[in-house]
Amino acid sequence: MAVGVPAVEASGLVKRFGGLIAVDHVDLRVDVGEVYGILGPNGAGKTTFLRMLFGLIRPDAGTLRVFGRTWGDAGPSMLDGVAGFIESPRFYPYLSGRRNLNLLAGLDRGGADSRIDEVLDVVDLARRAGDKVGGYSFGMRQRLGVAASLLRDPRLLVLDEPANGLDPAGIRDMRALVKRLAAGGLTVLLSSHNMDEVEEICDNVTIMRTGRVVYHGSIDQLRAQAPDPSHRLMTSDDEQALRLAAGHRAVAVSVHPDGGLALRAQAADADAYIIALGRSNLAVRALHLEIAPLESLFFMLTETDPEAGFGEPAQTQPDTLTGVTS
Ligand SMILES: Nc1ncnc2c1ncn2[C@@H]1O[C@H](COP(=O)(O)OP(=O)(O)OP(=O)(O)O)[C@@H](O)[C@H]1O
Ligand SMILES: [Mg+2]
Repeated sequence: MAVGVPAVEASGLVKRFGGLIAVDHVDLRVDVGEVYGILGPNGAGKTTFLRMLFGLIRPDAGTLRVFGRTWGDAGPSMLDGVAGFIESPRFYPYLSGRRNLNLLAGLDRGGADSRIDEVLDVVDLARRAGDKVGGYSFGMRQRLGVAASLLRDPRLLVLDEPANGLDPAGIRDMRALVKRLAAGGLTVLLSSHNMDEVEEICDNVTIMRTGRVVYHGSIDQLRAQAPDPSHRLMTSDDEQALRLAAGHRAVAVSVHPDGGLALRAQAADADAYIIALGRSNLAVRALHLEIAPLESLFFMLTETDPEAGFGEPAQTQPDTLTGVTS
C-alpha cells in the first residue's frame, strides 16, 4: 500500500490541441518504488501525458505533482530527481556513446561524469561505448538513452515506449534492464502499446483510449478480470472432439473460422478436456495459444465503444481500481 508522497500524482489532467482532447481528465498515481505502465494504442495520449510531466507542454486543467511538487510551485525544479526520454533519445551520431554521455554529464551537476562507466555497464554497452552512435542498432540507442537518464542518478525514470521498434531479443533485454533498475529501488514510469511488454514488469497500469482512462489497477486485478485464454486446437477428428466438449461445461469449443477448433478455457479445464480427448482415442495434433487473456482484455478495453463499457462492470475500489469510466 502507498506510503508517503507519490512519485507522480495526476488529478483531472486535461490537454487539448484545438478541438481534440488528447488527455481527458486523467487521474493517475505512481508510488515510490513501483514500476508503473501507461498503456494504450496509438493516439491514446501517452506521450502527451509524459510531455506534461516533463514540463514540455502545460495542462489545460487539472494538477500534476512530481514528488509532491507542481510546476506552478517549483518551476523546473519540479523535475529534480526525474530523468528519461520522450519517444526516442537523440545523440550525436558521429560521436561515440561514451563521448555523448561525457557531453551530457558536463551539463549536469553532481558528479555525473564519474558514473559513466557504471551506467554503461548497467545498460550493457560497456564494450561498444567507444563506437560511434551512428553505427548503433536501434536497441543500443534506446539503451544509451536509458544510460544517459541514469547519469543523473534519478529517483524516477520516465520512458516513453522504451521497447518500441525493438526486436524480440531487444524487448527482452529492455524488460530485464527495467527489472534490474526497479530492483535497485528506482521508480519507473513507462508507456507502451503492448500488453505483453508490461504485464511482466509493471505493478500497476493505467490503460488509456483516446485520452481517457479506461482502466487502472494492478496487473493482478486485471488478470482476475481477463477472459479465458483462447487456443486453436487440431485433432484427428474435430467433429467428435466437438461432441465430446458438450460433456465439459467449463470449456467453450467451437469451429475455428480458419480450420480446426477454437478452445476457450482456463488451463485446468482445458487440461481435463485434452486428457478426455486422448482417452477417447482422439489425437491432439496441435494446440496453441491464440490470444493471451490480458491481451484480449486490452483489446476489449481499447477497441470497444467506451460509452458501452465492457463485459462485467469492474468492481470499483477507490484508490486501487477504476473500472470503465463513463
Ligand atoms: N502537438 C500536437 N498538436 C496537435 N495534436 C497533437 C499534438 N500532440 C499530440 N496530438 C494528438 O493527441 C492525441 C494523442 O497523441 P499522443 O502522441 O499523446 O498519443 P500516444 O498515446 O503517445 O500515441 P502513440 O502510441 O502513437 O505514440 C493524438 O490524436 C495526436 O494526434
Ligand atoms: Mg506516443
